Amino acid sequence: MIDPDALVELERLCVEFASRAGRFIHDERPQRVRVADTKSSETDVVTVMDRRSEELLHGLIRAARPDDGILGEEGAQVSGRSGLTWVVDPIDGTVNYLYDIPAYAVSVAVVVGNPSVPGEWRPVAGAVSDPCRGTVHHARRGGGAWTRPDRGVPGEPSRLAVSTEDALARALLATGFGYEAKVRARQAEVLLGVLPQVRDLRRIGSAALDLVRVAEGTVDAFAESGLKAWDMAAGWLVVEEAGGRVVGVGDHPEPELTVAAGPALVEPVRRLFTGR
Ligand code: IPD
Repeated sequence: MIDPDALVELERLCVEFASRAGRFIHDERPQRVRVADTKSSETDVVTVMDRRSEELLHGLIRAARPDDGILGEEGAQVSGRSGLTWVVDPIDGTVNYLYDIPAYAVSVAVVVGNPSVPGEWRPVAGAVSDPCRGTVHHARRGGGAWTRPDRGVPGEPSRLAVSTEDALARALLATGFGYEAKVRARQAEVLLGVLPQVRDLRRIGSAALDLVRVAEGTVDAFAESGLKAWDMAAGWLVVEEAGGRVVGVGDHPEPELTVAAGPALVEPVRRLFTGR
């Protein structure tokens, strides 16, 4: 159990760090974004700005929470003493960022358990900054899900709620694809069965933004295989606190499958993707 005041403070820090890194990647985006490296395939790129954003987050977290662990998409791995780990994606939607498509995010979450082992961890506070829309969506366990402007005049937060759509045939479903050719071929095969059964599909290009869209009800559901902890940690909590459910093949989202939706759609969407 985390003390309620400590949880409020963790949520505040998630918002502050995600917003600062979000403003940084947006405002400092070079005309030509330089690719620094590739990971699982030649299209799975790391830009110089992914690294700089992770360095910024790392410094902010170490200064404020020296006893906590850190797990970052671009390699940050610090084991902590507090039982809490910060799971960060310094730019989620890197390909959009590379091409200047305004749909990328910074995702910052605090989790309990071991985020490197699927099913063994869960988020307790988190924030997803969407610097192109100038908003940050955030939540803490038990505190509801909220959005607020994160630039210009500071506005009041407004509460998020998932869509109440209950018919698959009317559902707008967000999804995404991995970077490896074999994985993508399998994902395309699954979508052959999915597409005729839903209103339409959206491939926004950032799983963190897909999840917060489920939370705000601007898509009805999201499903993707192959997600990592940093893609989903903050968005998972924001969806649950907005009244939705996030599951995998079992109760927890996992690399094999992550499904997020309102209570009426989550099982039908899970069945669509598992065939069971
Ligand atoms: C990717 C995005 C994308 C999703 C991929 C992720 P990255 O993260 O979230 O929408 O489909 O599975 O890897 O590489 O932009 O941080």
